[in-house]
Amino acid sequence: KKIAVLFGGPGNEREVSKKTAESVVAALKTKGAEVVEVDVHGPDFVVPEGVFIAMNLIHGTFGEDGQIQAILEERGIPYTGAGVQSSRIAFDKALSKEKFIAAGVPTPRSQNYKLDGSEPLSITIPLVSKPPREGSSVGVNICRTGEEWAKGIEEALKYGTTTLVEEFIDGKELTVGVLGDQVLPIIHIEPVEGFYDINNKYPWMTGTGKTLYHCPAELDEATTKRVQDAALAAFQSCGTEVYGRVDVMLRNDGEPFVLEINTIPGMTSSSLLPKAAAAVGIDFPDLCVRIIELSLA
Ligand code: DAL
Ligand code: MG
Repeated sequence: KKIAVLFGGPGNEREVSKKTAESVVAALKTKGAEVVEVDVHGPDFVVPEGVFIAMNLIHGTFGEDGQIQAILEERGIPYTGAGVQSSRIAFDKALSKEKFIAAGVPTPRSQNYKLDGSEPLSITIPLVSKPPREGSSVGVNICRTGEEWAKGIEEALKYGTTTLVEEFIDGKELTVGVLGDQVLPIIHIEPVEGFYDINNKYPWMTGTGKTLYHCPAELDEATTKRVQDAALAAFQSCGTEVYGRVDVMLRNDGEPFVLEINTIPGMTSSSLLPKAAAAVGIDFPDLCVRIIELSLA
């Protein structure tokens, strides 16, 4: 039986998706699967006959935001990962934040700032400016001065008319994978310089940047539990199905703050979710199979 691997997409994370797909295709082949690769540019993609599931590996716009999920449902093709509604919510950082708050999940204070400047800024500098509907840190800026905030606005304007402004949390960058109802060990992400931006995330793409990863993160038991509980609660607050990765800031005083959920997390062989799965003995091919099984269940 054939598996269609959907990759690419029309958005800003196309290159990352290609890398993800390369790794997943290789892994599925080691399991003896017959794989058909489908390079997706928009809604008119074709899934060949005889496919029992579409493995959706399109990060960001169209792939992660509920659009492709709705099309696959309309066509009656089973697919991996979160459904239409939860994808739509999780992909929108402002919308998912509303769910976190309603569920009592700690998250940084924020403002949906209109880039025309028609409303005063209510978050004090230092702050973080993020296009609400992008991934891979595209367009994200930490602004520590008025000048940097002006630059942040300029960049955010490339992606839309509002930017999500969050209070800056000084602390450690963590991420927590979720597989079904299993919370995976926490990864502590330690960029050698700056924050975990696109350079430090994908040195293979940008030729710069370097990041150290600690998995499981060296945190005491109580903190580990607080972070994992917050991550799982965040995941569930958006109704997320199957798998995902929750990004969390751990403030220096030990309080976790959930930033966002990634429903199509990076799956290159050096990506975070595979690292976390490996730490509990789930190797990369097994992780791919597990995602498919959980999606069909
Ligand atoms: N958006 C990227 C692919 C990630 O979260 O891993
Ligand atoms: Mg993201």
